[in-house]
Amino acid sequence: MSLDSHSGGGAMLRAPRPLGRLRDATDADIGRIRAIYAEHVAHGTGSFEEVPPDLAEMQARFEALQARELPFLVVEDRGQVQGFAYAAPFRPRSAYRYTVEDSIYIAPEATGRGLGRRLLAELIGQCTVLGYRQMVAVVGDSGNHRSIRLHESLGFRRTGTFTAVGFKFGRWLDAVFMQRSLWDGSTSPGR
Ligand SMILES: CC(C)(COP(=O)(O)OP(=O)(O)OC[C@H]1O[C@@H](n2cnc3c(N)ncnc32)[C@H](O)[C@@H]1OP(=O)(O)O)[C@@H](O)C(=O)NCCC(=O)NCCS
Repeated sequence: MSLDSHSGGGAMLRAPRPLGRLRDATDADIGRIRAIYAEHVAHGTGSFEEVPPDLAEMQARFEALQARELPFLVVEDRGQVQGFAYAAPFRPRSAYRYTVEDSIYIAPEATGRGLGRRLLAELIGQCTVLGYRQMVAVVGDSGNHRSIRLHESLGFRRTGTFTAVGFKFGRWLDAVFMQRSLWDGSTSPGR
């Protein structure tokens, strides 16, 4: 096929506008990450925290994940960081070492545009390459259809619901547990 046949008869074919730009988070992003998270802590049930962490606490959380070489990603769109996602150890005991838990937050004004899906897909890919075997999500609350749908669309299945284990904004909240295998899951032993 000639180059000409790609040219659209002379008019330049414009590339589609990319859906955000993914990159690793840096220290310089922590202020914006904190601001996005604080919005969701203050107004949403995705996080069971009730008091937004301050900058020092957010920085400390970031550094703890960096020390474990776990991925912490941001997505930029329209000139600003619009969301973040990271993988953290699911639980501290050593036998859980092949399992990570994802966390993902998009700025309220940027939700529903596919940025969450982009971030989580990349996080899954990076954790797979790192050798993790399972990723879990603990979604707050049962009514968080967007987060549940996001996880389902990337291969997570719902494994159970702890009912009324949270209490925030004067009402009881469920924790929805979801899980997907990474790499070859449990079909081969850990190394
Ligand atoms: C949950 C969250 C991360 C999703 O990110 P997002 O950028 O808004 O989601 P996307 O636009 O990528 O959409 C992801 C999927 O959810 C679907 N979706 C979007 N809005 C939806 C809604 N209101 N109800 C059901 N599904 C919805 C999309 O169609 C898409 O599914 P598809 O891939 O099958 O098409 C984001 O909305 C958010 O930060 N929410 C508040 C904090 C939170 O709950 N975080 C998760 C904690 S577990």
